[in-house]
Amino acid sequence: MKLQSFLWIFLSTTLLSCKQTPPTEYQIIPEPQAIVYASGSLNLSESVKIAFPQEVVKEGELLKEYLLADLGMNAQTTEDGSGADITLQLNPEVKSANSEGYNLEVSKKQVIISSASNAGIFNGIQTLRQIIQKKEGGFIVQRGTITDAPAFSWRSFMLDEGRHFKGKQVVKQLLDEMALLKMNVFQWHLTEDQGWRIEIKKYPKLTEVGSYRDSTEINNFGSNLFDGKPHSGFYTQDDIRELVAYAADRHILVVPEIEMPGHSSAAIAAYPWLGTTGKQIKVPCKFGVQYDIYNVTDPKVIAFFNDVIDEVIALFPSQVIHIGGDEVRYDQWNASAQVKSFMAKNGLKTPAELQVFFTNDISNMLRGKNKRMMGWNDITGDKLHEYQSDADTKEVSQKLADGTIVQFWKGDSTLILNTIQKGYDIVNSYHEYTYLDYSYKSIPLAKAYSFNPIPKGLPQELQGKVLGLGCQMWGEFIPTVESMNLKVYPRIAAYAECGWTSPDKKNYERFQKSLPYFLNRWKAEGIVYGPLD
Ligand code: ACM
Repeated sequence: MKLQSFLWIFLSTTLLSCKQTPPTEYQIIPEPQAIVYASGSLNLSESVKIAFPQEVVKEGELLKEYLLADLGMNAQTTEDGSGADITLQLNPEVKSANSEGYNLEVSKKQVIISSASNAGIFNGIQTLRQIIQKKEGGFIVQRGTITDAPAFSWRSFMLDEGRHFKGKQVVKQLLDEMALLKMNVFQWHLTEDQGWRIEIKKYPKLTEVGSYRDSTEINNFGSNLFDGKPHSGFYTQDDIRELVAYAADRHILVVPEIEMPGHSSAAIAAYPWLGTTGKQIKVPCKFGVQYDIYNVTDPKVIAFFNDVIDEVIALFPSQVIHIGGDEVRYDQWNASAQVKSFMAKNGLKTPAELQVFFTNDISNMLRGKNKRMMGWNDITGDKLHEYQSDADTKEVSQKLADGTIVQFWKGDSTLILNTIQKGYDIVNSYHEYTYLDYSYKSIPLAKAYSFNPIPKGLPQELQGKVLGLGCQMWGEFIPTVESMNLKVYPRIAAYAECGWTSPDKKNYERFQKSLPYFLNRWKAEGIVYGPLD
């Protein structure tokens, strides 16, 4: 070789190797709080070695399952960290903004996920799943360091199964998708006018009668068109234990929602003495707010709640129990001599005030069982609905119990600010932004993504009162899993990011660029999704 050619080859290869190849940017939803890229990538083989101590065995075993299911990798697990490709480290020294945070470092040699908590390690695993790329003959991960923690501690998805029962496999799939999106609360709306879905041993008719209806209204509210087919289904207590454990393994808290005093027709159909009129009714087939309502002035009905709550508490480790409390029509209370006399005896001037009084009773009951009550913002006694008259809702001098978590869904922005200013913690589920039953025309993906759980005008010192956000899949018009999935996906990914990523770090274009990982995954899982805008 001539000296000239040798020099040319030498110089060009040296120059080329000095030129930094730009990192392959991670595409992660929800976007982590901080990423620092390093040059180059880590190669992993199909028989990747994962090391973790006994304390994180559940997370480690799930990682092994994920790697197999997602990428076809055949991981070996060990407690011995030497020579590991992926190491999970529980380390109290890892500082993050909160207990769900984690660090993830991809070096030349290995991936290290470290956190002070198992939840943090689990979250780091969800990030790792999204950044391993399958390449010809192996797998690569871009080098870099991720420091991450959620902006909000409450990132919930609610499923209403009162209207349409879906069953265990559907719930498990939702929990799996939530986990990958780092959503950590599954609000399970288990009782409704049109169906009671949770076995209560002391009151077997709740499911024998209340889980069944003859037919179902279709298409839209008020259509008065019915499918003519019976609908039924409920979860046994064993089913519930299984799903609660499945969720817990994925660091998802299951918060049960047992509606009272409204949305109670199915229970009243099972036991007419629970109702205010005492009349036998059938489980409604029609949707929209019903008139039947528990007679909360009857001690026997209060004893019923106590019994139901005892069985619910035994099934759900959640500190928080949701009592619904929304959309109460007061007509039957207004027409009842027994309710009127109870109100007079207790100095209650309006039915809205009776609702707050009753709700506080339940709050006391729950507090006595070391639980904390949560309810929709109707429980503050504010007027939210046109079917409640001014006379129904004026002069509510009862104050909702301190310590209640208020799930804000309806009302104007002054109402949410007032609720926070009165001292309540809130979960922001404002319907115009977070209702998954709403069409894509009213909540397109970009609008879902734009939701900020912190309401405008909330002073800095009160922002900690906003625990986070919920997105809600109301069940009236989603008779099939496919019709549900079309509404849930892809918007759930947007809500996941609204809950995890600091509002100042959100970027819709970057979010859209990160979506293909999920779209491919959903396709592979048979999950049909709605429009991407
Ligand atoms: C609600 O949408 N009824 C809370």
